Amino acid sequence: MLADEVVDRHVLVIGSGGAGVRAAIEASKFGDTVLISKTIVGKGGCTTMAEGGYNAVLREQDSCEIHFEDTLKGGAYLNDPELVNILVKEAPLRMDDLIKWGAVFDFTENDEVAQRPFGGQRFPRTCYAGDRTGHEMMTTLVERLDTCGVTTLQEMTVIDLLKDGNRVIGAMALDEKGSMVLLKADSTILATGGGTKVYDISTNSSSGTGDGYAIGYRAGAELIDMEMVQFHPTGAVYPFDSRGRLVTEAVRGEGGVLKNTLGERFMKRYDPERMELSTRDVVARAIATEILKGRGTEHGGVYLDVTHLPREQIETRLPVMLEQFLKFGVDIRIQPMEVAPTAHHIMGGLRITTECRTALPGLFACGEVAGGVQGANRLGGNALAETQVFGKRAGEFAGKAERKEIRIDPAQVDTAQRRLDKFFKGTENAGQVRKELKLAMWQGAGIFRNEKDIKKTLETINRLSQAALHAKSPQNLVDCAILQNMCLTASLICRCALLRPESRGAHVRVDINQEWDALHSPFSHTYISQHREGIQKMGGLL
Ligand code: FUM
Repeated sequence: MLADEVVDRHVLVIGSGGAGVRAAIEASKFGDTVLISKTIVGKGGCTTMAEGGYNAVLREQDSCEIHFEDTLKGGAYLNDPELVNILVKEAPLRMDDLIKWGAVFDFTENDEVAQRPFGGQRFPRTCYAGDRTGHEMMTTLVERLDTCGVTTLQEMTVIDLLKDGNRVIGAMALDEKGSMVLLKADSTILATGGGTKVYDISTNSSSGTGDGYAIGYRAGAELIDMEMVQFHPTGAVYPFDSRGRLVTEAVRGEGGVLKNTLGERFMKRYDPERMELSTRDVVARAIATEILKGRGTEHGGVYLDVTHLPREQIETRLPVMLEQFLKFGVDIRIQPMEVAPTAHHIMGGLRITTECRTALPGLFACGEVAGGVQGANRLGGNALAETQVFGKRAGEFAGKAERKEIRIDPAQVDTAQRRLDKFFKGTENAGQVRKELKLAMWQGAGIFRNEKDIKKTLETINRLSQAALHAKSPQNLVDCAILQNMCLTASLICRCALLRPESRGAHVRVDINQEWDALHSPFSHTYISQHREGIQKMGGLL
């Protein structure tokens, strides 16, 4: 027996956030589809936590050209223009799907989908459902999924992909009891989301551990721009348990202002034109600088103030923020919030084509685990749109793959099982290793970077990657496997950070003096795989 259970379907979708569920809905039109979730479908992942909104061109005064330019400029011109073109053109169509399936977005008095301003955009094109947009989307998607005949396997964690030569033919997973399950498929879609849980302070849910980057890398896929990690400017700073929790950009979109402890609206020093609605990389650096210069609060943040806004606006447009801060003992209608940057999103990821194909036949990727769409800095509101646009495309092209006889090589399963069994003999406490990893990443691969600190962090990661992790029970095997994924993801971020000798978007190398701006950079994507790593020159072929 190869494993306790073998599941055989046309399409396997790994991940149950917005991109994964959208991919499964689409794939099911072409053949039997299985969706595997390491949590509970609709509960895990980051889509359900996304608050602010979904960017789509819906008004005559706006245009796909402007959305395209905003996205490229916001992304410091590192985005793949073909992917961005698809994003801006198809985002409104996928918005229509959601509304058709029952998603309740906010509407204007004229019965149009309401839109609000978000950073770095010249038109207020962010559609929203109060400040629980992602939650509304996920509820809708899961209800739709339930009508599509997709098999869902919950609380099951993929350990590695299965391959036949270079071709991906499915995956090996552990169920909640720690038993091995094999999943065979003609096409496999990675939709595992991001990985900023490798940082000490992060907005991500506990599932944001970078599994897809690690699984893809180990299988031989190529990743790009992994150094591009977005620090959301505004995360909660206290109480301790809530550190890093998202304080939505919608707060600034609705008119919230940032102030330091001297009462200055300091954004005038960093981007006098766009102020609080500058791009996230600029606002996050501005807040970090104010704090470093000693103009931060005693909790290590700055103030985000909406007390000048009408109470009704706060109560109807920002109800989650209001409730969340009330729990922290702060009434945002009369008191400012305290916020500081928090690791939020990885712009890099598996290199994909416009059909979401990776370098490996049979393997597709969509959503945050894929790179290229968001460049060096993502605009707020473009991630939810990306999940739907590229989720649908991944499902479609994966679904169209031809059916093949699939035979699993037992040696692959043996190797995976041996790797897992070693955890029973390990001696090191996974919790300690995880803590050390997250602190090292925060210290050495944060908002301001330099070669010495990145190398020091990488040394720590290399040491932690070798740790003989201890699993007390079969159920703990998953924790150890995930922690190894976190170490690998962190290492990819640091190695790519060393490969890019410039500051661009979210990646700031304070030890490099450069003469060019993003538009004139001689560099394009960093790339990394088991076979090669480097940085593309602008206009170079790869
Ligand atoms: O600030 C926010 O609501 C987050 C939105 C996003 O990351 O797109």
